[in-house]
Amino acid sequence: MKVSEMVRAMGFHPVDWGNLAASRDIEDVPLRLMPSWKRPVAVVFGIFVFLWILAFFSFQICRNIQSGQWDENWKRIPLTNFNRVIAITALWTLAFCYIPGLIAAYIQLWRGTKYSRFPKWLDDWLKMRKQLGLIMLGLAGIHACISVAYITPQTTGWVYEEPTRFQAEVVVDANTTTTNTLTIYNNEFNWRGEFFLSMGAIATCLLVVLGISSLPSVTATLSWREFTFIQSKLGWVALITAACHDVFLAWHYMFLYWGCFRTLPIGPQYALYPPFIAVIMKLPLLLPPVDNYLQKIRRGYERGSQSESKKGNPL
Ligand SMILES: Cc1cc2nc3c(=O)[nH]c(=O)nc-3n(C[C@H](O)[C@H](O)[C@H](O)COP(=O)(O)OP(=O)(O)OC[C@H]3O[C@@H](n4cnc5c(N)ncnc54)[C@H](O)[C@@H]3O)c2cc1C
Ligand code: HEM
Repeated sequence: MKVSEMVRAMGFHPVDWGNLAASRDIEDVPLRLMPSWKRPVAVVFGIFVFLWILAFFSFQICRNIQSGQWDENWKRIPLTNFNRVIAITALWTLAFCYIPGLIAAYIQLWRGTKYSRFPKWLDDWLKMRKQLGLIMLGLAGIHACISVAYITPQTTGWVYEEPTRFQAEVVVDANTTTTNTLTIYNNEFNWRGEFFLSMGAIATCLLVVLGISSLPSVTATLSWREFTFIQSKLGWVALITAACHDVFLAWHYMFLYWGCFRTLPIGPQYALYPPFIAVIMKLPLLLPPVDNYLQKIRRGYERGSQSESKKGNPL
């Protein structure tokens, strides 16, 4: 108590870290290297490796088996594969920022109270959302930079107007002629391309706003409501916009289309799995009776208790 009073008199805020036995841990604190980042980095790295293997299998192994030419596609690993894999990793990670909140909401509805502990795995997951979000922002930023330099009618033909193809008779020598097909690419986007690109740019911009708002100096200037509006509402808009970016990219291939000997879904399809799960889980929570009941629980109401609890302010 005396130490606390002395610390307070010196103008600091004392924090009780336990008894003398904790002193070793406290001494180690300045030596720790970003402890809150280890798990989120490991999670995102795990997702990246999983998706990388999937992409490698689809773009290199499968395509080469199909074409029978094993010298194709290897050069695409550092840029094309990497860009697609980080794009999908970013979208999955963004969805994983919102799914734990949804699970938490269902648990609260089920238990009828907010005053009960979430399971440890969910608690840990909820606590790492900030780090997941910032790593996701980094990946989306790299993807956007690479894509702006990379997008052409040759590389991303799906979103451009149809090219014009000519067949030309080429005279090789006096006795031989061959027929070659010449392709004149069209540099104009089709309507899907227009949507695809603007959705990607809007999602990037919203994610940057989320990232800026999570800087401690900026967070300190925002009210709780403003911060929640940016993180929760704008974050959901960013998730849906990024998912639309993906849908417009692969518009004709979204449904009933299989890659790799008709066995595996294609990248833009499985990119949508976690966002789809998030949206499906979110929709019932938007129904007014469910939403009102959840808000009531978050204000302190407890099912089964006599009166609305007055245990505290909304979080
Ligand atoms: C670039 C970027 C930066 C990010 N920065 C941050 C950051 O700085 N900090 C951060 O936390 N996240 C951050 N995130 C992650 C994410 O945006 C936020 O966690 C966001 O608030 C999640 O919104 P939500 O609607 O799912 O959850 P929330 O609104 O946080 O709600 C989650 C769950 O908490 C419970 N809950 C909510 N309100 C109450 C209440 N009043 N009482 C009891 N329980 C309640 C409910 O079960 C609810 O479902 C960031 C994401 C990105 C992409
Ligand atoms: C200005 C911003 C952006 C631009 C210019 C852009 C551009 C592109 C391009 C060109 C592709 C096609 C890549 C290919 O087929 O090789 C693509 C795919 C994709 N993008 Fe973006 N993008 C942007 C932002 C985002 C953001 C913020 C996200 C969300 C996280 C995102 C998620 C995706 C996904 C999931 C794919 C599909 C990957 C695949 O082909 O399997 N993009 N984007």
